[in-house]
Amino acid sequence: MPGIDKLCQCFVKLSRSNNLTILRMAQNRDLAGATMELVTGGAGFIGSHLVDILVAQGKKVRVYDNFTSGREEFLAHHHGSGMVEIIKGDLLDFDMLKSAMEGVETVHHLAANPDIRLGTEVTDTDLRQGTVATYNVLEAMRNTGVKRISFSSSSAIYGEANVMPTPETYGPVKPISLYGASKLASEALITAWCGTFGAKSWIHRFANIVGPRGTHGVIYDFIHKLKKDPSRLEVLGNGLQEKSYMSAEDCVRAMAHIVDGTDEVINLYNLGTGDTCSVRRIAEIVVEESGLKGVSIEYTGGDRGWAGDVPKTSLDVEYLFSTGFEPTMQSEAAIRHTARALIDEIGL
Ligand SMILES: NC(=O)c1ccc[n+]([C@@H]2O[C@H](COP(=O)([O-])OP(=O)(O)OC[C@H]3O[C@@H](n4cnc5c(N)ncnc54)[C@H](O)[C@@H]3O)[C@@H](O)[C@H]2O)c1
Repeated sequence: MPGIDKLCQCFVKLSRSNNLTILRMAQNRDLAGATMELVTGGAGFIGSHLVDILVAQGKKVRVYDNFTSGREEFLAHHHGSGMVEIIKGDLLDFDMLKSAMEGVETVHHLAANPDIRLGTEVTDTDLRQGTVATYNVLEAMRNTGVKRISFSSSSAIYGEANVMPTPETYGPVKPISLYGASKLASEALITAWCGTFGAKSWIHRFANIVGPRGTHGVIYDFIHKLKKDPSRLEVLGNGLQEKSYMSAEDCVRAMAHIVDGTDEVINLYNLGTGDTCSVRRIAEIVVEESGLKGVSIEYTGGDRGWAGDVPKTSLDVEYLFSTGFEPTMQSEAAIRHTARALIDEIGL
């Protein structure tokens, strides 16, 4: 593992040669023995929570993010700690990505388009930001000898599963969104890389993740709608859509727990809480937490919010729980915690 001085010099050099933008660099400090973890999408909602937990574990972190939805303020509390480097770069810029692999132990690959709806309008979004981006990450790892990847997949790969709660062994999986298809393709690329080039992987199939710093999703949308018009709340669909919700804090704790505690070539886990909550109930909780009175909750109708939306998802999390992991919040508690945090962040 090169010392931080050497790494810094190396990055300054790369910065000149490859037009690499380093927003903040880990300051010189003796971090001998600390491993370097690369977090793609580390300035995003879940990624920034993952950076927090990795730093708390004493690991140095290099964030690689193009800041399309990531925000520098989500990492501001690490400024000056000497533990976090931030590189502004795109996963589709292969040379820059390869440079960022220098000295890395594990790649935590979270960067992707997070918006399922976008795929219905710009149909190559998930192909490029999901599948091709994951290929680039794996190829950059192969070129630089990095052997460990932890990947944020999604329950969207199961599509409209006919077994619920849905276990990891369910199949054949038939995603119904382009986003789900790109996650499944990414999983396949990762397992193929492990089989062909001797890498090791941790694949996390997330439930719906909610929490502070959220920049998209149902709770975020509801708060923005109420901010615009405090007298009514429009809900897409009939409100009977029902999914599992996990707090971002529990999600990244589970990720770290799985990566640290399992050691197969491919370690594949559903990450969730084991229960579900309806969109109708989420609307009620957000209105309760807003403190607004007399809000009329109105439903657009139909069994789903948009094309590609899966009306009901329920992940079987027995495999996760068998490792000794326990979430601190069930779905409703995670939703209430998020509503409070986001109302505070967004303002009403
Ligand atoms: N939030 C959820 O409920 C949920 C559920 C299942 C899976 N996931 C997955 O978890 C991961 C993180 O999602 P999130 O909710 O934190 O979303 P997010 O948008 O906050 O995070 C994605 C991050 O990746 C960055 N990014 C996007 N495209 C990039 C590119 N081409 N190059 C470099 N950086 C890029 C963005 O700027 C952002 O910081 C994603 O892979 C998402 O698909 C999220």
